[in-house]
Amino acid sequence: MTDCESAFTQALNDPAEFWEAQAGRIAWYKSPQQILSKDSNGNDCWFVDGELNTAYLALDHHIEEGRGENIALIYDSPVTDTVRRYSFLELRDEVARFAGVLSSLGVGRGNRVVIYLPMIPEAAISMLACARIGAIHSVVFGGFAARELASRIDDAEPKVLLTASCGIELANVIAYKPLVEEALALASHEVDRRVILQRPLCEATLGKGDFDWNDLMADATSVDCVSLKSTDPLYILYTSGTTGKPKGVVRDNGGHAVAMRYSMHAIYDAAPGDVFWAASDVGWVVGHSFIVYAPLITGCTTILFEGKPVRTPDAGTFWRVLEEHRVNVFFTAPTAFRAIRKEDPDSELLVGKDLSQLRALFLAGERTDPPTYRWLCEILDVPVIDHWWQTETGWPISANPLGLGPSECKAGSAGLPMPGYDVQILDEDHVRLDVGVEGDVVVRLPLPPGCLPTVWGDYQRYVDGYLTQHPGYYHTGDGGHVDEEGYLFVMGRTDDVINVAGHRLSTGELEEVVAAHPAVAECAVIGIEDKEKGQIPVGILLLKDGLNISADELEREIVMHVRKDIGAFANLKRLMVVQRLPKTRSGKILRKVMRNIADGVPYDVPATIDDPLILDEIKHEMINNNIGLIAE
Ligand code: COA
Ligand code: AMP
Repeated sequence: MTDCESAFTQALNDPAEFWEAQAGRIAWYKSPQQILSKDSNGNDCWFVDGELNTAYLALDHHIEEGRGENIALIYDSPVTDTVRRYSFLELRDEVARFAGVLSSLGVGRGNRVVIYLPMIPEAAISMLACARIGAIHSVVFGGFAARELASRIDDAEPKVLLTASCGIELANVIAYKPLVEEALALASHEVDRRVILQRPLCEATLGKGDFDWNDLMADATSVDCVSLKSTDPLYILYTSGTTGKPKGVVRDNGGHAVAMRYSMHAIYDAAPGDVFWAASDVGWVVGHSFIVYAPLITGCTTILFEGKPVRTPDAGTFWRVLEEHRVNVFFTAPTAFRAIRKEDPDSELLVGKDLSQLRALFLAGERTDPPTYRWLCEILDVPVIDHWWQTETGWPISANPLGLGPSECKAGSAGLPMPGYDVQILDEDHVRLDVGVEGDVVVRLPLPPGCLPTVWGDYQRYVDGYLTQHPGYYHTGDGGHVDEEGYLFVMGRTDDVINVAGHRLSTGELEEVVAAHPAVAECAVIGIEDKEKGQIPVGILLLKDGLNISADELEREIVMHVRKDIGAFANLKRLMVVQRLPKTRSGKILRKVMRNIADGVPYDVPATIDDPLILDEIKHEMINNNIGLIAE
């Protein structure tokens, strides 16, 4: 038996014993005695009587262990031409002072703080400051527009909002203050205190209730870590579900810290002193887990990168950062490498770079397409590991675990299920499917530590969204199969979630915005394959009669509405007008069938369909509009 098989079997046979041993890797204030129990909802819950503080584990503990002078965080920002290093001591002092700022604004244990910041050190500092005082942070990706920020404000009901005067997108400076003001005007919940970090490129005008970040920091008194219950929430991170309303994934303190520490050891094989770089954004789960919490809890140096893989200044930026900061383990999304490969197909910008310290490249966020996987294997001399997970789980469900003795990597596969995740493939009648047969990818309960215990403020949504489709299992929403050696192949979502350049979006959310256009009678948004971004959304519209608007004008307006209401990163640029939408007799739009038509996949005409001829019309329209990969 390999170490991975033996860990997997132990976690399966006696989860409490397995995770008690892993809990011993972190410095609790009070070690848990009850490892696995039930919460008041009857859900599995980890380490219920343990006490700890996540910011203490990430910073103070390393200082006590004599690692205070080690570098905790490197801020590398080609867009501002800055590289700044923070030792654990320096970062702890900043965090303790900012925790003092939050306390002075009346923020305490259990209060929510919305963080809407670009990729700057203050993002990590404010997350850790919340953790230090037991406040619950909710980071909103800086690319979200005002309406999305407003819906998160209304759901999380924060006491304070933290932002900066601007973000930098290649040559564009994006002023955040007007977006925040618009969001606050749209939201019903009032946030009467906002802290704004002024960036020299574009300073914001401050009004009533706005506080200058640096002024508050200048007068701040440091505050210490508070002892929290293992089950106290550390953060809420909103993610796209199947409806327009985002879901607040809740993360607890204890299970999360244990899972972060375990995954760094078992999956990434990273130890104190290693340099770990996750090139993502703090607004996504990758940023929470693998830019901020896991590397710092492990005593690694983490890199916070403000830039793009290309054009900052060129497609060699990643190689420059890997060499300059002697990165040991690198993690990013395949779409980033597709962008690099497009600009530098022969990897000329890699020539002469010393990456001898790099031990592995991990990829996630979307399936790594085999051509990109093979290209990376050719140009890099390290294992290239696709691994699969979700905002909900907080850490990888499947991978090739370097720390447990690596196994063979297979192109197109997301690796083996990790200890704690009993992954199975079921059909819609909950029957386990054979090797090679595609079905719903599910995880038998209990989920391991670190996974979501509920949806913020809506336990029923948690039950309905994840636990009812297959009783006794967590429903991931992904479809896939396993091969004879147990390798998992995750092929894509089975619901209305799409993945655009590693960004998770709900087609329902997009449809709400498209349908709000006065010319649109009805619409469906589907995700179609895209060479660079993995998927892109396409809007299929049915128009109201008698309106005088040209197709070009309509497209321009709807594209603009989506950019303004959701954000430019949604990449909705293609629209197609049809005479009818294909529906079942009960009125459900057949999105999946349209997706299959666009992807050139053979499709069955469902027995419940109203009028099978519509599918031919749609196919014809798609060909006319040059949508999808139809090779005819
Ligand atoms: N703030 C404001 N606007 C943003 C933004 C942000 N944080 N992020 C993206 N946008 C904008 C871009 O500027 C662009 O605007 P434009 O249409 O005016 O040019 C638009 O949204 C499209 O963005 P995107 O599709 O992301 O393209 P990109 O060229 O900006 O970036 C990648 C390409 C590959 C670098 C980026 O998509 C990426 O990092 N993806 C990975 C995401 C990720 O980390 N997922 C987690 C799993 S690891
Ligand atoms: P997010 O919650 O934003 O991290 O997105 C999670 C979703 O991204 C998953 O449910 C998958 O659909 C997709 N995903 C992430 N990583 C992978 C991967 N390695 N292979 C296939 N799909 C992935």
